[in-house]
Amino acid sequence: MKTILCIGAGYVGGPTMAMIARKCPDIKVIVGDINANRIQAWQSDRLPIFEPGLLELVQPCRGKNLFFSTDIAAGIREADIIFVSVNTPTKTFGEGAGMAADLQYWEKVAREILANATKDTIVVEKSTLPVRTAEAMARILHSHGGKPHFEILSNPEFLAEGTAVKDLEAPDRVLIGGATTASGQRAVQALADVYARWVPRERILTTNIWSSELSKLVANAFLAQRISSINSIAALAEVTEAEVDEVARAIGMDSRIGAKFLKAGVGFGGSCFQKDILNLVYICRHYHLNGVADYWEQVVRMNEQHKARFVNRIVSAMFNTLAGKRIAIFGFAFKADTGDTRESPAIGICRRLLEEHAELVVSDPAALDNAKTDLRGAAGVTFEPDPVKAAAGAHALVVLTDWAEFKALDYAAIHRDMAQPAFLFDGRNMLDHQALHTIGFNVYPVGKPPLTHL
Ligand code: UDX
Ligand code: ADP
Repeated sequence: MKTILCIGAGYVGGPTMAMIARKCPDIKVIVGDINANRIQAWQSDRLPIFEPGLLELVQPCRGKNLFFSTDIAAGIREADIIFVSVNTPTKTFGEGAGMAADLQYWEKVAREILANATKDTIVVEKSTLPVRTAEAMARILHSHGGKPHFEILSNPEFLAEGTAVKDLEAPDRVLIGGATTASGQRAVQALADVYARWVPRERILTTNIWSSELSKLVANAFLAQRISSINSIAALAEVTEAEVDEVARAIGMDSRIGAKFLKAGVGFGGSCFQKDILNLVYICRHYHLNGVADYWEQVVRMNEQHKARFVNRIVSAMFNTLAGKRIAIFGFAFKADTGDTRESPAIGICRRLLEEHAELVVSDPAALDNAKTDLRGAAGVTFEPDPVKAAAGAHALVVLTDWAEFKALDYAAIHRDMAQPAFLFDGRNMLDHQALHTIGFNVYPVGKPPLTHL
């Protein structure tokens, strides 16, 4: 029996290993993490991450061929293939602060593998990494003189949170990069054989290791670029009486452009987009490609400006003062169907509203615990799981996450319990603006002229 170890039981490692275990009953899959609470949660029916369909995927394999453990050294000794899926946040200190990836967790893992491995092992980079990280990894892993042999592969994850199980079940593609040497190619094939148990061979793409590392950054940069592009047009639409959703629909029907990732909103968030673009920018600067770096950096800047513009619109609509006004925040997660708030636009937007001395009541079906951490120490904010209660007495509702739950509410009843005049800022353009206006709301969609009674 083959053994696979994954170091890092987070949003990527957990779901990915559960899918491998499910599809390969003859492979033993161990998921290791230094965080004992996290491991305990994976062993319970209250998983540490919220992801539709994940518990149903984990339950039948757990204890059979899927194991969660804090004993990483033992896992390393046993494993034929080791996935590394630890966090690689943006550096907050020193050279490259605010741009480069912080590789300290990665390096620790590499040294741990080196200290404990007893046989030839394939080491797979699963976390998103700057291009040429594999080179540093190879230097560490080969620093002992070559026995046992380590083969390093890059196998970036393209799953999106909220749809992780679906994305893993039927990926658009699986990308595996490896060295062009004979042993490199053997390792690539060994990993391809694992995925081939459920992914059609033509969707398993093999490349050299640098192409694979770079493709992950580029995929996220291109997706984020589309969102920044449509959000820039939202700003123009608001002053020209065009409607951004109509524009998106019209251009999206051009098959060369395509319909996806054209939804204007409050700006993109999540653990990948900003981090990966800044990473790309940093690498470009390293190679003195300053024009290229500026080009991609503007995608992130646009996102920042867009969030600031959203707040400015709230302030100016509400007579240029928010002081003492109660504002209900509908949604704190960076998107629907996840409790994840990493880089969520809600963080910056709420902080800005608090600076204007608004009183915030934050409501979210899955992200309130994370929201409390993100806004720790901020004065003037309370948390309320029930959006109807959050809205009671409020001067404004601000929709920041596209949860289906917010669509199903009785807005006529909510409006009756609010301070008047009542405002609604739909940062996700997901509600029926005309109907809300008829109820009596002053409605401000993104990228559309407001519908007001004032
Ligand atoms: C992303 C990539 O999609 C995935 O392939 C990669 O592996 C990790 O990063 P994720 O961060 O989970 O996944 O979320 P995604 O669905 O891509 O959304 C990112 C952000 O963009 C969210 O804040 C979302 O609300 C926003 N978004 C997305 C829009 O504002 N408009 C859109 O049209 C699409
Ligand atoms: P991602 O979204 O990339 O999956 P997460 O932050 O959700 O990132 O998960 C990364 C996980 O890696 C965390 O649970 C963290 O505890 C774990 N981790 C970090 N460093 C180590 C290490 N040296 N050994 C084992 N696990 C680690």
